Amino acid sequence: MMSDVFLRIENLRKEFGATPVVNGLDLDIKQGEFVSLLGASGCGKTTTLQMIAGFEKPTSGRIWLNGKDITDVPPSKREIGIVFQNYALFPHMTVEENILFGLVLRKVDKAAQRKRLSELLDLVHLVGLEARYPRELSGGQQQRVAIARALAIKPNVLLLDEPFSNLDARLRADMQNEVKRLQIETGITTILVTHDQAEAMALSDRLAIMHKGVALQVDTPQATYDHPASRYVGNFLGNINILQADLRDVGSHVSFSANGKSLQVLNDQRLSPERCCISIRPERVRIQPQPTDCEVLLGATVTSKNYNGNSWDIGTETELGSVNINIPHHGAPTPDRGQSIVVGWNLNDMRLVHVD
Ligand SMILES: Nc1ncnc2c1ncn2[C@@H]1O[C@H](COP(=O)(O)OP(=O)(O)O)[C@@H](O)[C@H]1O
Ligand SMILES: [Mg+2]
Repeated sequence: MMSDVFLRIENLRKEFGATPVVNGLDLDIKQGEFVSLLGASGCGKTTTLQMIAGFEKPTSGRIWLNGKDITDVPPSKREIGIVFQNYALFPHMTVEENILFGLVLRKVDKAAQRKRLSELLDLVHLVGLEARYPRELSGGQQQRVAIARALAIKPNVLLLDEPFSNLDARLRADMQNEVKRLQIETGITTILVTHDQAEAMALSDRLAIMHKGVALQVDTPQATYDHPASRYVGNFLGNINILQADLRDVGSHVSFSANGKSLQVLNDQRLSPERCCISIRPERVRIQPQPTDCEVLLGATVTSKNYNGNSWDIGTETELGSVNINIPHHGAPTPDRGQSIVVGWNLNDMRLVHVD
């Protein structure tokens, strides 16, 4: 085992009846890392988290924590903190009793409990609210209690399952910042489960893009966004234009033709042209001023135009199919629907992605 791996998930599988839900997942996490499992609803994120916590038993595969195989260790002995989507606070217990639950269970002495409570109330900014009941708290405050409760036992790993999804947009942004701050302050190894790509990108050191029970790509947010391995990943993380072109294999590159020219895109993974497509991110396409310095130049007709406040989304139709363009809003005029324009981009901004 690599020495800097703290949590290792090895060929993990889970079937409910005959249905595979987690399908051979591999993931290595370093101590202090913040990793997100990002994927659409139903792809197996919660099931994975439940297996790490020990609440679900894997059909096969192993989970290692700090060099120890914990696959068959009961949840209470794993020293893992978990925050569920609905917070799952005990309604008949006060904030203090909720936070101290794990310590009482472990028969930690009273003085140490007081000390830890005071540290945690400080950490999650809940000082003064310790006598309240969950129903007397806002959603964001309940969330903080759930996080404090998970951290009380000084767990090895903090697991967060869609912890922000019940909060409105403004509060969600605040709580995301809070969690990031807590994670940096405590240095705790954290796994966040989310279907929200912006949230995962903003918070994580690395993302594991999950689909049908496997991780399609595991990398930093920037590397994943900039070099998506497949069409699915490219589309899940932002928007991507998949271009319609006949591709030819030319060794280290594939070639395609546009505007009467033969052009080449890097194929560093040597994908077969039948199994890949060429792509360009909408914000890499230029229209104004006339994109004369671009290696790819195409005539285009504007088919749609949407204003986002800080940018415009312009839909066009070209000889390579539809090309969506995202341009920052600087106050300059933008082309209108039906208008003929020229669009352009650079070859080194194009990516070859697997068709899946
Ligand atoms: N206890 C269970 N019994 C049967 N099917 C389940 C159970 N838990 C989850 N599933 C199914 O497994 C799939 C993955 O679920 P889940 O891990 O909750 O996905 P996610 O958290 O990514 O939305 C879903 O199709 C879900 O219906
Ligand atoms: Mg889930």
